[in-house]
Amino acid sequence: MADTRTPVIELAGIGKTYVSGDVQTPVLFDVGFRIYPGEFVAIVGGSGSGKTTLLNIMGLLDRPSTGKVMVEGREVSNLDEQGRAEVRRDRLGFIFQFHYLLPEFTVIENALMPCRMKGPKYEAAEEPRMRALLDLVGLGEKLRNRPSQLSGGQQQRVAVVRSLANNPALVLADEPTGNLDSRSGRIVFDLMKSLSRESGIAFVMVTHDDDFALEADRVIRIRDGRIESPGTPRPAPAEAT
Ligand SMILES: Nc1ncnc2c1ncn2[C@@H]1O[C@H](COP(=O)(O)OP(=O)(O)OP(=O)(O)O)[C@@H](O)[C@H]1O
Ligand SMILES: [Mg+2]
Repeated sequence: MADTRTPVIELAGIGKTYVSGDVQTPVLFDVGFRIYPGEFVAIVGGSGSGKTTLLNIMGLLDRPSTGKVMVEGREVSNLDEQGRAEVRRDRLGFIFQFHYLLPEFTVIENALMPCRMKGPKYEAAEEPRMRALLDLVGLGEKLRNRPSQLSGGQQQRVAVVRSLANNPALVLADEPTGNLDSRSGRIVFDLMKSLSRESGIAFVMVTHDDDFALEADRVIRIRDGRIESPGTPRPAPAEAT
C-alpha cells in the first residue's frame, strides 16, 4: 500500500560532484529516499562513501549537483541562501561529532543559542522547556557551568538538547558518538532515541557503530555514493499491527 504520509524529508535523484579547478570528484549518484515523522534512522557505509556529503545536502548546508530535496513536502533545493537558512533554523536540528558549544557561554545559554538567533522573546519563551530537557538528560545541576567544566559526554548531551531548541521536524547527526568513549556514547545514543520516541521528531544519524545501527528503526546503507539499501520505513502508527 502506498504510504500517504508527507515525509519530513525526501531526496530524489540526488547527485553530487565536487568541483575544484579542473578536478571533478563525483561522490553521490542518484540517491533517493524518504524519511517519515518520528523515524529513527541510521546511515551506515564505509569511510569516503559519501555519508557526510549526503547529510550536508539533507541539512541544506550544501547544494546537490542534480536532484531535488523536499522538506515537509516543499521543494527547498531551489531556495536562495536566506530561504535555506530559514528552513535550517526552523525545521532542522544538527548534532556533529564535535559539539561546537561556545566556550564563553553557559550550558543553558548554549542550549538556547538557536532560539537566540530568532530573537530574545523567543529565547525567553523556550527557556523553561530547555531547562526541563537539560534536567532530563542529567544536567540540571550544570546549567550555569561552562562547556570546559563538563565531560565530553556531558558536552555532547548539551549539543543533543540544543538540536531540539527550535522544535525541529528532523535532527541530523553526523557520528554524534564518534568522539566519545563507549559508555558516554551509549548514554548519548539512548538519549537521542528516547527523545525521538517522545517528541515524534525524526532523527537521521550517521554511525560507524554496528550496535547502534542495529537498534535504529531503519538502516540506510550507502556504498561508493550509491544507496545499497534504503531500509524499511517504520509504518505509520495507524497501520502498525
Ligand atoms: N569539499 C570536497 N571536495 C572534494 N572532495 C570531497 C570534498 N568533501 C568530500 N570529498 C570527497 O567525497 C567523498 C565522500 O566524502 P564524505 O566526507 O561524504 O565521506 P564519509 O562517508 O562521510 O566518510 P567518513 O566515514 O570518513 O566520514 C570522499 O572521497 C571525499 O574525499
Ligand atoms: Mg563523514
